[in-house]
Amino acid sequence: MRARNPFYLMAGLYFVLDVVAVALVALVTAGIISPIAGLSWMQVHLLTIGVVTQAIFGTLPGLISRVTAGSTLGTRTAWVTWLLVNGGFVTLLVAMPSGQRTVAAGGALTIFSAVALLLVGLVWQGSRGRDGARISSPFYLSGPVFFLVGIGMALGMLLGWQVPGGYFGLIEAHVHANVWGFLALVVAGVLLDRIPALLGQPLRFPGTVPATGWLLIVGAIGLVVGPWAAILPLTILGIAVYVVGTALLLANLIGTALPARGWTPNLTHLLVAYVWMVVPAVAAPLIVLATGQLPTSRVETAAVAGLVAGWIFQIVIGAFVPGLVREQPGSLDGSWASVVALNLGVLLFWISPLVGERTTATLTAAGYALIVGGSLPPLASLLRQIVASPVSVGDV
Ligand code: HEM
Repeated sequence: MRARNPFYLMAGLYFVLDVVAVALVALVTAGIISPIAGLSWMQVHLLTIGVVTQAIFGTLPGLISRVTAGSTLGTRTAWVTWLLVNGGFVTLLVAMPSGQRTVAAGGALTIFSAVALLLVGLVWQGSRGRDGARISSPFYLSGPVFFLVGIGMALGMLLGWQVPGGYFGLIEAHVHANVWGFLALVVAGVLLDRIPALLGQPLRFPGTVPATGWLLIVGAIGLVVGPWAAILPLTILGIAVYVVGTALLLANLIGTALPARGWTPNLTHLLVAYVWMVVPAVAAPLIVLATGQLPTSRVETAAVAGLVAGWIFQIVIGAFVPGLVREQPGSLDGSWASVVALNLGVLLFWISPLVGERTTATLTAAGYALIVGGSLPPLASLLRQIVASPVSVGDV
């Protein structure tokens, strides 16, 4: 039996906790239970630091060794990063809801050192590769660099650093560095590597991959520096460059997937996720044009909820849960019911700011309920896999 890597084990446990947190958010939003301190932070970060970061930590060394034909990380390094990232995250889970911001900064610094260690390990692996870095390596290396920057922004928020963009500039730069820098770059590399392999179909436009990488990296830099420095034109330029890079990526993926006869629910999750990723970039300028004002806080709330559930959740379900990345035996194609429920839920988030305040809460609660329902089939398959395999760091 194939051993389960310990990062994946933790990702599975955090996924269970996150679905519980989303269910609690639905109950709070519907007014059935009272608000819980730090619940919104936990719901976002159980998914982002808990599931996504663990899955990426568990996967990247293997992916880098595959693309560079080099060796993988040593067992000791893997366990040290595991301890650092989980120790740091547990500290955050205790400190954030109780408002202990200095302790939380300690947790953030611990995760920072785990990411720095992973990055050093990846560079070392790449330098020992036999056939040099292949096209997807830059995605895998630049992603963690953005994570370090994102944690730097979080430290700024927690310790009250003064920056030109103020606290909200820091939040925006944090979200952009982590979601559009760290997560999206790593995911782009994974999709460009694994989708052709899984579909048995060569990449449709391989020559565009380096340009895709550069456009995403340069766009993400604009999206981080713009809000941090309070330079709106830089943020807008960053969005424009980023959207072009994403369009190139999607053209390549859809061009590769269309001729193949293996269109599955999980592939649909991955591709539709990109629609929800681009929606805020398109919606914000449209709202400014139509109303002459920046989006209201209700639209911002819908945008964050839609990005987390529509983009991050679907990437987790489509790419990480079934083992698309690692081609585990018995990996599932996914469930069409999940595709429908999750995307309907996100659609309700986006409709909610357009209606009256009371209906907004009902629609948002219904959106969260649909997301919980849509998460159950992948959650069940993940739990089955976790229970079925012993834990070993050997194949990290
Ligand atoms: C060490 C890692 C991290 C720390 C310490 C951290 C900390 C924080 C803090 C302090 C906030 C602001 C909370 C507030 O004032 O409302 C925040 C917001 C946010 N973070 Fe993180 N974060 C981390 C990693 C991540 C990652 C990896 C992602 C995504 C991939 C992410 C996505 C977000 C999002 C979307 C928000 C906005 C939530 C909202 O507005 O409701 N964070 N984070």
